[in-house]
Amino acid sequence: MKPHFYPLLVIATCVTAFFFHACSADDRSHACGAGIAVFYPETFDSVGLLPSLALVAEPARAGALPRGWKIKPRFSVEEGKNVITIPVGKETDLYGTGEVVGALRRNGTSITTWNLDNYAYALNNGKNLYQSHPWILGVRPDGSAFGILVDSPWRLEISLSDTARVTTDGPAPRVIVIERDDPASVVMTLGELTGKMEMPPLWALGFQQSRWSYFPDARVKEIADGFRSRSIPCDVIWMDIDYMDGFRVFTFDPARFPDPGALNDYLHERDFKAVYMIDPGIKKDSLYAVYNQGTEGDHWVKDKDGRAFNGPVWPGPCAFPDFTRPETRAWWRGLYEDFLATGVDGVWNDMNEPAVFRVESHTMPEDNLHRGGGTLPPGPHARYHNLYGLLMVKATREALLQYRPDKRPFVLSRANFIGGQRYAATWSGDNVSRWEHLRVSIPMTLSLGLSGQPFSGADIGGFGGNARPDLLAHWMATGVYYPFARNHSSQNTANQEPWALGEEVENVSRRAINRRYRLLPYLYTLFREASVTGMPIARPLFFADPRDTSLRREEQAFLLGQDLMIVPRWAKNPKRPRGAWETITPEDEKEDDGYQPLLAIRPGAVIPVNKVIQSTVEYTTDSITLLVNPASDGKATGLLYDDAGDGFGYKNGDFALHRFSVSRHEENSFKLDVERVEGTRETRRHYRVGLVAGGKIHYSPWSTDATRYFPVTR
Ligand code: NOJ
Repeated sequence: MKPHFYPLLVIATCVTAFFFHACSADDRSHACGAGIAVFYPETFDSVGLLPSLALVAEPARAGALPRGWKIKPRFSVEEGKNVITIPVGKETDLYGTGEVVGALRRNGTSITTWNLDNYAYALNNGKNLYQSHPWILGVRPDGSAFGILVDSPWRLEISLSDTARVTTDGPAPRVIVIERDDPASVVMTLGELTGKMEMPPLWALGFQQSRWSYFPDARVKEIADGFRSRSIPCDVIWMDIDYMDGFRVFTFDPARFPDPGALNDYLHERDFKAVYMIDPGIKKDSLYAVYNQGTEGDHWVKDKDGRAFNGPVWPGPCAFPDFTRPETRAWWRGLYEDFLATGVDGVWNDMNEPAVFRVESHTMPEDNLHRGGGTLPPGPHARYHNLYGLLMVKATREALLQYRPDKRPFVLSRANFIGGQRYAATWSGDNVSRWEHLRVSIPMTLSLGLSGQPFSGADIGGFGGNARPDLLAHWMATGVYYPFARNHSSQNTANQEPWALGEEVENVSRRAINRRYRLLPYLYTLFREASVTGMPIARPLFFADPRDTSLRREEQAFLLGQDLMIVPRWAKNPKRPRGAWETITPEDEKEDDGYQPLLAIRPGAVIPVNKVIQSTVEYTTDSITLLVNPASDGKATGLLYDDAGDGFGYKNGDFALHRFSVSRHEENSFKLDVERVEGTRETRRHYRVGLVAGGKIHYSPWSTDATRYFPVTR
């Protein structure tokens, strides 16, 4: 940016601000869909707030606010700050607010929306971490529910009691309110407004192994071989910053990783995928092509005086791409061409809050300048801070699509903003190997799901510190049920691969990972559901019965989809939904190891499961076991989604969604009806029924073409 740019920015801002959204007192709120309303403050700064990168489309005007509308935000100015107060009712349980540390039920808590590199969740009591979700889900005693989306990327303080109170230094934002009969419907409507996760490749659902300090390439191979030689299933090995040449992104260390193509081939030949890290900080180095290109192309975020901003990260002083600029995003996409050509399968965007070392704020100055372009206006960093990660992963995802149009992108991002599930999955950053961080990983994953991001998980085993064997065993046993299941740890900590802490932990880990791979047909079906409806994959227990207020605080036990309950072994007095949920004990688990969670199947549910495989490369749905827990009427139903596991054929119908309807025919015999409810993919399968009863699975023989009735042996 030229030094004369800033005055121009001010003029542009003032001129556009003149065209403040024109609202009379009466039309400051209106319906924008059935049961959805938007409320505007008296003056609405469209330059400071629009376009909304949270929403997929501007809210349409759909008539006046319905009579009797319950949740009404009030706008005011207090001590120079814009304030919104929203009475939500004394009896209402509050959830959401995205990726923060704390209880699942958010009443009495407060959060800050300001993406922050927050090692060990130590800063600000974990009230703000790497991502921001200005979103509240309220559930009333009768199970009816509402959602409140404060549509602002600026820093917000949100405190939750019987009145939600939002304070901001930024412009007064509009507020979107959703009213629905139940919490699931609110979350699905959030998905309609902010978009849904796209189907990831099947391999991204497999178990993944990472560590900061996997170098040289021989060590990476050793880790991969370690999984195969021990028959511990795994799909992905992750490359942290160690592969880079002096932490220069898009380069490879010539000594440690001399031939990345050969390394990736090695991994692929053994049915692994390779995910590599790319950070936004570009080393200030006149011998570094990426830095020189960025400077020549004028791609850097500017300081307040219009000079390229520099701040230290891993490689020392760095410049930062201004992802608000379409030209910069296009340049960034291009950088991936040669990088991906080495056989990189997925991208890990880290440090994109953006993290800056050695400053109290842990990020760049708020008066740094982003130039915008296209639909984005220029603005200070304070306006774009929370969007920096989102814009980065948007560009990364587009790069993967550009250079590998036949593959589904997989991007993992540390920073993001509500709606960012459209571009990337996430993990909960730098936790530590402590019990409290294992426990809190459940409400964190659930809260992300309730805030629109279904694809998340914590670093299994903990990132910082050394995991003791008992903790690692429990974490492996629990973490395989995170939607994103990756063991990751920091350099200078004890190794924590499944076999690193002795035979017992290794056996517990193998058993846990086997369980995840068995559940893949069910899990993949849940990913499909999330991508279509926006429903979370991991769900709070109260989703099983939103009217049962005794479930509202349960944050140890949780649901995967609507049919499977996970009760970690470390859970103390977990609540259970009413009804005859039956415990599933996998067939090869002869004795209890004391670590595996209790798994229970909902009455009336059918859960499709598979045999154990070593990676998703071996995945087929040729032989599916249907775990059945008949309801009191003897009936049960379930779904199975199947497609090619990668590519976009499914968008043109190359998938099959089957519904299974099982009904009791005789005491120990079941009739199975299989109906293809969506898709055109041809499938031929063998089935068997596994009746879950009395803590055991009672199997029928496998079907032949003529089988309609499945006798189970008790
Ligand atoms: C911070 C990330 O949160 C962590 O997962 C990673 O290992 C380090 N950066 C090093 O790249």
